[in-house]
Amino acid sequence: MRDLGIIEDGAVLISGGKIVTVGTTDEVAKHELAWKADEIDCSHNVILPGFVDSHTHPVFTAPRLIDFEKRTAGASYEEIAEAGGGIRASLRGVRDASREKLAEHVRRAFDEMAAQGTTTVEAKSGYGLSFDAEMKSLKAIRAAAQQWPGTVVPTLLGAHVVPPEYRDDPEEYVRIVCEQMIPAVAKSRSLDSSVTPASRDDLVARDDKSGKSRELNGTPEGVPFQNTARLAEFVDVFCERGAFSMEQSRRILRSAVEHNLGVRAHVCQLTPAKLAPLIEFHPASLDHMDFVSDEDIAALAKLDTVATLLPAANYFLGLTDFPPARKLIDSGVPVALATDYNPGTSPTPSMPFVLSVACTHMKMSPAEAIVAATYNGACALRLQGRKGSLEPGKDADIAIFDATDYRELAYWFGVNRCKETFLRGIPSRSRER
Ligand code: NIG
Ligand code: FE
Repeated sequence: MRDLGIIEDGAVLISGGKIVTVGTTDEVAKHELAWKADEIDCSHNVILPGFVDSHTHPVFTAPRLIDFEKRTAGASYEEIAEAGGGIRASLRGVRDASREKLAEHVRRAFDEMAAQGTTTVEAKSGYGLSFDAEMKSLKAIRAAAQQWPGTVVPTLLGAHVVPPEYRDDPEEYVRIVCEQMIPAVAKSRSLDSSVTPASRDDLVARDDKSGKSRELNGTPEGVPFQNTARLAEFVDVFCERGAFSMEQSRRILRSAVEHNLGVRAHVCQLTPAKLAPLIEFHPASLDHMDFVSDEDIAALAKLDTVATLLPAANYFLGLTDFPPARKLIDSGVPVALATDYNPGTSPTPSMPFVLSVACTHMKMSPAEAIVAATYNGACALRLQGRKGSLEPGKDADIAIFDATDYRELAYWFGVNRCKETFLRGIPSRSRER
């Protein structure tokens, strides 16, 4: 995780929304397509693969300011949830909102993420907590994704908490998740496969001290803005005290696997849990992991399940302990970093902020943090063949930072150093800001 493969005086040639070649400016300039490429000057900038934010909850309508204020007065996340705040406090807004309204919120979040260098986002439902409101949330994600040039991986988190109407019969709610939500998602297909991006002029980047060119070409016509596949690719569950038991979580993940959906889980966020009963379902990622045991770390080191750490949540909850990144990495577990963007524990769209917290509070090196936020995030979504690094054939997802050294990305905080983001070759709106 320490090898970034840095190219000084580098260039990237892109065409058709894909990376054609990467190398020094001199090498890239020799490519047969280079002569007709437009150029973008990125001298004295750091160019990275766009961040892969592999854990977000963007479908909500309002900040949770009462929870926030209570926490400043000393209440804990669990105390606030028990008193009627927490996840359930976001439910009414989502149930009452139209799909269009929700999509607007989600789209705005995607834009804010892209402005900070993110090009791929995993987006969960999970604040509707009824069949209709969860499907509406996933459709809002899809609608937002169809208007956004980045890549969105939707996840069903119907099992976020048990909604109030099933408080006395949580098993019935688990049944609805397993027998209604998951099957509906598995058989869903977008009817609208015709959405394509506006064609763009070719673009070129210039990135070198000698002023030579690097190229970024636009995405061709015909590449869909967003995948048109199922309403969700993954099923997630909040396996935790006060949410879903291990036994209930297993039923949900089993149903997901039976329906050919990928699985992931929130686990060990507030309390310890044994991971073997979840690992059985071959999750792409296990997330939070604050209380993961040494035995489970050893077990995970032998698997390709990614440990996704979300330290902005610890920061926002005012915790002094952070997930054991060093132990995980030093034991050989693949670690990803993500924002956990949500109204309760992590209202930030900023991957650079997460890098800062990861380095400062979890003692990850800046290089490890960048790998965790790009390539390992792609692994957490099983997209490493297309995303997470600047390599020929991969999607042209590129972030340009106003910095001359990659370590600056984790060094500055509270300021956005991202100058421009290219999402499958398409420049983000930050260009117009
Ligand atoms: O990842 N832990 C569960 N879900 C979110 C919190 C959601 C909320 O409080 O609204 C998380 O931290
Ligand atoms: Fe989360």
